[in-house]
Amino acid sequence: MEQMREPLSGHVGLSEDGRQVRILDQSQLPNREVYLELNGLEELCEAVSGLRVRGAPAIGIFAGYGVYVLARQLPEKAPAAANLAALSGQAGQLAAARPTAVNLAWAVDRMLGKARQALSRGWSGVCAALEAECLAIHREDIAMCRAIAEYGLSLVKEGDGILTHCNAGPLATSRYGTALGPILLGRERGIRLKVFADETRPLLQGARLTAYELGRAGVDVTLICDNMASVVMGNGWVQACFVGCDRVAANGDTANKIGTSGVAILARHYGIPFYVLGPTSTIDLACPTGADIPIEERDPEEIRTLWYREPMAPAGVKCFNPAFDVTDHSLIAGIVTEKGICRAPYTESLKALFFA
Ligand code: MRU
Repeated sequence: MEQMREPLSGHVGLSEDGRQVRILDQSQLPNREVYLELNGLEELCEAVSGLRVRGAPAIGIFAGYGVYVLARQLPEKAPAAANLAALSGQAGQLAAARPTAVNLAWAVDRMLGKARQALSRGWSGVCAALEAECLAIHREDIAMCRAIAEYGLSLVKEGDGILTHCNAGPLATSRYGTALGPILLGRERGIRLKVFADETRPLLQGARLTAYELGRAGVDVTLICDNMASVVMGNGWVQACFVGCDRVAANGDTANKIGTSGVAILARHYGIPFYVLGPTSTIDLACPTGADIPIEERDPEEIRTLWYREPMAPAGVKCFNPAFDVTDHSLIAGIVTEKGICRAPYTESLKALFFA
């Protein structure tokens, strides 16, 4: 009989003594399930930039815990204002570890705001407030993913094929995930969906993570290379595309893993609805359009040598390695959030989420 296991959770959290952030090292999946406990600023930043923890909501949750463990290391007897200045500097470095996903800076700002509010309670009061806040960020993400999964599930029916890009499942969030949430929730309810997972070059989040977590949950998942999506869509096997997001601009333009905009263009060609799923913490109304979203560029070795027994490109060949791209809002059939499904015109529907 097919085995169904609980969606992954608990892959970002606090160590038992509450002094370290504990993560499942995603860079080693699917071959090794290794947990790390971190509390130094440098190792926290490296965990983010090295994609040991990754996915917009997950790095937000991680940053919440990170700010808390950093705060606990500051001397309790020092003036609280001096500690806050030191913490702000460290938190700023953590927020800068990756530029595109807004959740990272969002969580850091939220934690520092909490610290400022609690300052009159002394540093132990600040730490207590920060502990409550990082746990709240995590709990809220679980609830948001669950609501997104419900809304997303309303867009598909038994037997549909869903194409997804990168990994926007439990590993990238807290539980259920965003793009994979409807699929996992459907699985729990006996609604079977078939998933086509783009391998997602160059870092293979689709192959290493999406195929891993969907397979573990007993979902029918087929791994394809990124350049096969057109054939799969042309064969009539895909009824909807579900992708996550790293930052949604006020006009609906959406940054997500490099290659996402190509999927949206293909989907438009084949008349397949292309949906973006993400929590409101990923919507950045301060960013007017996709052109204002900073796009991370990564090490060329990820393209030239990383996965290969021997280099697969001439040494020193010029490479362009953006980690994300922007999908134009005109290609998006809907943006599914925990508060409901936004439709075009996004400038109005996204704003209404915050100011209704
Ligand atoms: O570079 P990554 O692996 O962090 O990129 C992740 C993505 O692009 C995800 O689709 C996005 O963060 C949404 S996760 C719910």
